[in-house]
Amino acid sequence: MTQLAINVDHVATLRQARGIDEPDPVLAAGICELAGAVGIVIHLREDRRHAQDRDVKLLRQTVKTKLNLEMGATEEMVGIALDIKPDMVTLVPEKRQELTTEGGLDVVGQVDRLTGVIDRLGKGGIPVSLFIDPDSAQIQASREVKATFVEIHTGRYCDAVSDEEQNREFDLIAKAVDEAFYAGLRVNAGHGLNYVNTARIAALDKIEELSIGHAVMARAIFVGLDQAVREMRALIPGS
Ligand code: PXP
Repeated sequence: MTQLAINVDHVATLRQARGIDEPDPVLAAGICELAGAVGIVIHLREDRRHAQDRDVKLLRQTVKTKLNLEMGATEEMVGIALDIKPDMVTLVPEKRQELTTEGGLDVVGQVDRLTGVIDRLGKGGIPVSLFIDPDSAQIQASREVKATFVEIHTGRYCDAVSDEEQNREFDLIAKAVDEAFYAGLRVNAGHGLNYVNTARIAALDKIEELSIGHAVMARAIFVGLDQAVREMRALIPGS
């Protein structure tokens, strides 16, 4: 049963473009929940260019479903997570110049460090998800570092320019979802999903949640946020 979590970063991005206090991602999160989202995701970046600390603190107080804090695996962010106690953390790679998260986390290359971070967050009662490419080695390493979830990166499937390439990327995702699930990991997925390409991914029923931001916020400009969330839910059978 796949459900929908909404990433509200883009509301913060629009606010930061003006450097004032609206639109407010906290208000957006409430509307998404009322429209049936089962979780709210926000990415607190090291440089704070979109979400602010204030957003995460207020969301912790107001989100009624589940707050998923997306962050880099840095000392500063681990401290903030342990203080704020989101319902879960998703660890992502973070590069200063990127427009959005570009690739999956290299779990294979940092097993020791991630084991330590996941252990500390776990002792604070926070389950951890690792945002990874649909790759067997990354899945096995995610199990080794004792992640609770993986979030399979759907970006290359979404960016594919031909049916052939999209089918190939879809097959990789489908295989990765199965492998992670049978390895005992809980499975989420996301990045780049929109109103055209989501249904096929949502039909993979071992995925618990899809994390979707940009497409929903883009549609919300024209139809309103409540309707944009409901229209996305309609594409996801379990939501
Ligand atoms: N999952 C992760 C780990 C992300 O970094 C993002 C983008 O912030 C998303 C999902 C959502 O991607 P999109 O905004 O393209 O729907």
